Amino acid sequence: MSTDRRSFLKISGLAGLGFLSGCKQKSGAQQKKYALPEIKKQAAEKHQSVFNMSGYGAPKMEEVRIGFVGVGNRGSAAVERMSRIEGVAIQGICDVRPEIAEKAKKRITSEGHEAKLYSDGEEAWKNLCDREDVDLIYIATHWAKHAEMAVYAMEHGKHVAVEVPAATTVEDCWRLVTTSEETKKHCVILENCCYDFFELLTLNLARQGFFGDIVHCEGAYLHPIMDSFFEEDKRYDFWRLKENALHNGNLYPTHGLGPVAQILKINRGNRMEYLSSMSSKDFSLKPKAEEVAKEDARFKKYLGQSFRGNINVTNIMLENGSTVMLQHDVSSPRPYSRLHIVSGTKAYAQKYPLPAKIAIGEEDFLKEEAMKQLEEENTPAIIKKIGELARQVGGHGGMDFMMDWRLIDCLRNGLPVDMDVYDAAAWSVITPLSEWSVANKAQPIEVPDFTMGRWKENKEHDINLEHGGSTRVHQA
Ligand SMILES: NC(=O)c1ccc[n+]([C@@H]2O[C@H](COP(=O)([O-])OP(=O)(O)OC[C@H]3O[C@@H](n4cnc5c(N)ncnc54)[C@H](O)[C@@H]3O)[C@@H](O)[C@H]2O)c1
Repeated sequence: MSTDRRSFLKISGLAGLGFLSGCKQKSGAQQKKYALPEIKKQAAEKHQSVFNMSGYGAPKMEEVRIGFVGVGNRGSAAVERMSRIEGVAIQGICDVRPEIAEKAKKRITSEGHEAKLYSDGEEAWKNLCDREDVDLIYIATHWAKHAEMAVYAMEHGKHVAVEVPAATTVEDCWRLVTTSEETKKHCVILENCCYDFFELLTLNLARQGFFGDIVHCEGAYLHPIMDSFFEEDKRYDFWRLKENALHNGNLYPTHGLGPVAQILKINRGNRMEYLSSMSSKDFSLKPKAEEVAKEDARFKKYLGQSFRGNINVTNIMLENGSTVMLQHDVSSPRPYSRLHIVSGTKAYAQKYPLPAKIAIGEEDFLKEEAMKQLEEENTPAIIKKIGELARQVGGHGGMDFMMDWRLIDCLRNGLPVDMDVYDAAAWSVITPLSEWSVANKAQPIEVPDFTMGRWKENKEHDINLEHGGSTRVHQA
C-alpha cells in the first residue's frame, strides 16, 4: 500500500473517531498537515531568517509577570516552583477545568500574586495572552495545543515557555521559529532534563575536551506509563492515549535528545542532517485497550485501531560526522532510563542504570572516590549556585527548579535563554520525521535547519553564570 493511501486511511479513520489534535477534531486544512507525504514536503521546504534569536537577550525586566496555561500535573507544579522565585508575579492561571485552576492557585507559596483565574471555555487562554501586564506565558497543556498557544502568545507580545514537545508537526516547528524571529519574543522549550546534575556535568566535561572528539551519543525515554493512559484522573481527556493511537514514531524525543544535543553543539556549531527511524510492532497497547474496553465502554472506539509500536529507535547523522541514537518506549515493562550515553575518543559516560558512570580510555568505570573528585572539579557554576536549593525544592530531583530559576534569571538580566526557539523546533521535529521514516521502511529524511545556516556562528549557552545569577529564592 502506498504511503499516501495508508496515511489517508489512517487519518480518515481516526478523524471519524474524533482523535485528531489530541482532543478535538480538526478542519480539513489542519488535517492535511498530519498526512505523511506532507511531512516529507515540509521537511524539505526552505525558509528565510529575519532575525537571529540565538544569543539574543530581550530587554531586561525587574519583575517577570507570568500567565500559566494548563495547570494539570505539570503546570500546577510549575506554579508552585515559580512562586518560590524572587521577581516573579503570577498574574493569571488558565485551565479549562475550573477546579484544577483553583487547586493550582492554592499551590502558590509566596505573597503578592494576583493570579486571576481563566476557565471560561477552550479559548479563555487567549484572554490571558491578550493582557498588557503579562510578560511570559507558561504553557503546560496537552501537546496538540502547544504550538497554537505559543504562536498566539508571541504575536501578542509575550515570551513563551512551553512544555515538551514544543510542537508536533514540521509546519508548526517552523511557525514557532518564524514567529519568534518576527516578534523578537523568546520561545523556550521546558526541557528540564538539560538541567539534571549528571547531564550538566557531562556537558561541562565535553566543553573542556574531556571526552576528546564525541563520536556518538544516546538518549531515550524508556518509562512504562501505559496503564496511566487509560486512567481518567491521570490526564485531561485521555490525551496521551489519543496521541499513541494517532502517531507511530518517537513521540517524546526531547528528554533524551536535549542534553546530548547541547553536548554535540547542535544549532551552535553543529546540526542534525538526516535521520532514519524504525518501530517494533505494538505488542502491548492493543491488548490493553481490548482488556479495558470489556469493562469500560468509553474504550470500545479503540477496538480495531492500531497503536504506536512498543519501541522506536531513531538514528541521527550530524553535520560533523557524529551520530545520535534515540529510543522511545512507554509500554514495555522495564526500568526507567534516559540512557544519556556520551562516547568520545578519550572517555565514555553512561547515566543509566544508575548510578551514573564515567570511564577514561579502555579502563573500567571510575571508582567512587575518583568520580567524586571529577564531579567536585567539574560541576558547573549553575549547580554550585542553585543545585542544593533546587534539590530541596524538588521537582524531578531539582532539575525542574533549576530550569525555572535560570529562565527567570535570564529574563530579569536581559540574557539569551539557554534553550531557544531553534532548540525547541529541532528537538521537537524528531516526532513527525520519525513517523515518516517508520512508515517508509526506515528511509532517511532530512532534518530541517531551523537556524537557516546560523548554526555555524551561534555560540554555546552559558552554564557557568558568567552573567546573571542575581535572582534570589524565597525561603520556605
Ligand atoms: N518535562 C517533564 O518532565 C514533563 C512531565 C510531565 C508532563 N510534561 C508535559 O507537560 C504537559 C502537560 O502534561 P500533564 O501530565 O500535566 O497533563 P494534564 O492533562 O495533567 O494537564 C494538561 C492541562 O491542560 C488543561 N487544558 C486542556 N485544554 C486546555 C485549554 N484549551 N485551555 C486551558 N487549559 C487546557 C487540562 O485541563 C489539564 O489540566 C505535556 O506537554 C507533557 O508532555 C512534561
